[in-house]
Amino acid sequence: MSEIMEMLVRRGFIWQSFEIYGGMAGFIDYAPLGNGLRRKVETLWREFFVINERSVEIDTPTVGIEEVFIASGHADGFTDVAIECSGCGRVFRADHYVKEKLNLEVDPTVEAVKNVIQEFNLKCECGGDFRNPEHFNLMFVTKIGPGRGKKGYLRPETAQGIFIAFKRLSDYFRNKLPFGVAQIGRAYRNEISPRQGVIRLREFNQAELEFFCHPGEKRHPEFYKYADDVITLVDKFDKEHRITLKEAVEKGIIAHELLAYFVGKTRRFLLAAGIKDEKLRFRQHKDDERAHYAVDCWDAEVLLSYGWIEVVGIADRSDYDLSRHTQFSREDLSIFVPFEEPVKVRKRKVVPDLSKLGPAFKDKAKKIAEELERLEDVGNDITVVVDDEEITVSPEYYEIKEVEEEIHGERLIPHVIEPSFGLDRITYAILEHAFDTDTVDGEERKVLRLKRKLAPVQVAVLPLLSRDVFVDEAEKIASELREHGIYTELDVTGSIGRRYRRYDEIGTPFCITIDHQTFEDETVTIRDRDTTTQVRVGKTELVEVLVELLNSEKSITEFGEIFRS
Ligand code: GLY
Repeated sequence: MSEIMEMLVRRGFIWQSFEIYGGMAGFIDYAPLGNGLRRKVETLWREFFVINERSVEIDTPTVGIEEVFIASGHADGFTDVAIECSGCGRVFRADHYVKEKLNLEVDPTVEAVKNVIQEFNLKCECGGDFRNPEHFNLMFVTKIGPGRGKKGYLRPETAQGIFIAFKRLSDYFRNKLPFGVAQIGRAYRNEISPRQGVIRLREFNQAELEFFCHPGEKRHPEFYKYADDVITLVDKFDKEHRITLKEAVEKGIIAHELLAYFVGKTRRFLLAAGIKDEKLRFRQHKDDERAHYAVDCWDAEVLLSYGWIEVVGIADRSDYDLSRHTQFSREDLSIFVPFEEPVKVRKRKVVPDLSKLGPAFKDKAKKIAEELERLEDVGNDITVVVDDEEITVSPEYYEIKEVEEEIHGERLIPHVIEPSFGLDRITYAILEHAFDTDTVDGEERKVLRLKRKLAPVQVAVLPLLSRDVFVDEAEKIASELREHGIYTELDVTGSIGRRYRRYDEIGTPFCITIDHQTFEDETVTIRDRDTTTQVRVGKTELVEVLVELLNSEKSITEFGEIFRS
């Protein structure tokens, strides 16, 4: 186990699920500190992508009926290629196995994998031969209700819950584009052989934003906020650019401003969460790498001990999902978008001659006339469909008139830009980037330099001695901090030095110590995790000082006199 994983398990961030039954790859428990951290990452995400965006948040079921995933393309297309050993029976994800054993990129198709196995005489780790490769659908299948029940799937992405509620959502926004709809929640993928610990989970947490826009207006009024940010991009030809977002759009490296806006906003969010800028890049998917629904996609990748790992995907899904759900549900998911000014157009309209249609077509004449009136810009002989019958109507039955019409808007299916965040990977990446060692008083110290706002335990109250009078005072202070919403622990056990180390290791930004002087002048000390500097402040100012410190990156030296032990 790596040093950081050992610490995360020992200190209570992450545990193996089902541990007493031997565990199961692809599942983790969020232990108390990991759970606290992930919840705060969610809150920060909400600040960026809901509160400070033109968005709302919804929550839809994690179980979906089969129809949804047939329409979305997941039932057919959401597969990886699996290879099974005919000897030991182990199954591997083919592209990962080929990469690991042969250092080759193989297309994720059955044919390509078969060729590689033959060409390189690829064997299982046990020496056995592989059976023929097969597609394996990554969705967990379930049955809804008793008896034969109804087939369902655990959702592989939160996004579909948003697309299928689109009509209601669009009404909610009074059909005014652009608007965003977010969802945070669990998603499931039955990964073939997850071997990357916390990185590849079968049950995981997503935060997704579906940002619906006019197909011809892929811009954002707040792009200016990120336009001058310098960013590392790796394009689909593997060319690296260190460039501002504005230039990336101007040069066509990023297809449009709206994608660039979300690249910029994603970067700012990840930096605010504690990801290191020098270990962050945005990589464009190659043409054969994109998901079935995407026309362009940029991944935020973070450098970890596992290599460059995708933590966010920012995809242009075009009108793929809404068109497919329109087709499969037969609900029209287009919206009417009014023009700013009405537009005048000249049209050739068909004017039916009922006096001739009546005698010729009898009881069908009225319906034929209605169909004819519906037509625009026609040729000579017209064919209409009435009661499933194709009827050709020759020009003697109608007149064509040129008319000028005012058009007030257009019906269209919005496009969607989707920033999709893997919260588990982000939480783990934050921990790896925060994990540090330094030397304090000649001794090596392990310290988790989490952003103050995200620390699961924000303040530790430490009585210098375990005598009642010290502990009573510590309890009073701890409960006052808790009443002000500060997540506080009180710790009496061990030497004060050991206690400081414990809280440094779990990333607690501030320790408050009650010492002898507290009883003389009503002051306590605040110790800063990163610098180990201590200042002395009055008990009555403590809450105010801590609230300000926790919501900023200010130094504690601004708040009190430096105190040396
Ligand atoms: N919604 C994109 C994904 O789940 O990968």
